[in-house]
Amino acid sequence: MKVITSIKEMQQYIHSLKQDGKTVGFVPTMGFLHEGHLTLMKKARSENDVLAVSIFVNPIQFGPNEDFDSYPRDLERDSKLAEETGVDVLFHPSTEEMYPAKMSLTAVVHSRINVLCGRQRNGHFDGVATVLVKLFNIVQPDSAYFGLKDAQQVAVVDGLITDFNFPITLVPVEIVREEDGLAKSSRNVNLTLQEREEAPRLYESLQMAKREIDKGQRNPKVIEDLIIKHITTHTSGVIDYVELYRYPELDELSQLNGKIIIAIAVKFTKARLIDNITFDVKE
Ligand code: PAF
Repeated sequence: MKVITSIKEMQQYIHSLKQDGKTVGFVPTMGFLHEGHLTLMKKARSENDVLAVSIFVNPIQFGPNEDFDSYPRDLERDSKLAEETGVDVLFHPSTEEMYPAKMSLTAVVHSRINVLCGRQRNGHFDGVATVLVKLFNIVQPDSAYFGLKDAQQVAVVDGLITDFNFPITLVPVEIVREEDGLAKSSRNVNLTLQEREEAPRLYESLQMAKREIDKGQRNPKVIEDLIIKHITTHTSGVIDYVELYRYPELDELSQLNGKIIIAIAVKFTKARLIDNITFDVKE
């Protein structure tokens, strides 16, 4: 595995691979790799000649009260995991390399942001979009892989790729789940034993909602109420949101049709869990 820290060297290396006709799959990350990242990498590995991964903790997507300084970093462990997963090139620039001076131009995301978790993260997706414009220009991937656990980020990246005409295929990758259905997350360890037992009810409520829609229910409010009832009856968690939107546009729906997302966030004592499903509502 090649480890590159310089933007110029990365661009030259990718250019030489492309000249040899190789396809490049790209998984951007902020490091501290977990099973979710490894799933993206394995998929990208199987679909491309070259697998490129970036590790860069992007300061401009953190709010003033967020954890940029304390964000976990472990390059040694990450490099080992990346190598074992078949990564060909690991791009790991410093903050100074990526942001040598105050930028005179940045990306501003106009839609798909003032819903779900984005509502509480002012400016976050502008930072994500800006770093992705840079990373896409540096890595020049054929395909870029993002996890649907953060379905709002996938929606924003979809807009970025479409609106700025990046010749990149976006590959959204399904949520990895525990055997009992709970979406995998590093936050799950913060659940108490009882909360951990209750937590699969979140995905269960989403599946139940889908079954009702499959049976013909088209009223989003009815589905929302059903999910709220299921979660409040079977868990001690406090619901942060239960929302249904058109996907990936994240527009409001008065009637369920086309591709939709049902997304939930539930607060437990020491962990806030999110989950979602996206699917086509059949006519
Ligand atoms: O999902 C992440 O880890 C980050 O938002 C990303 C896409 C690597 C951009 O910094």
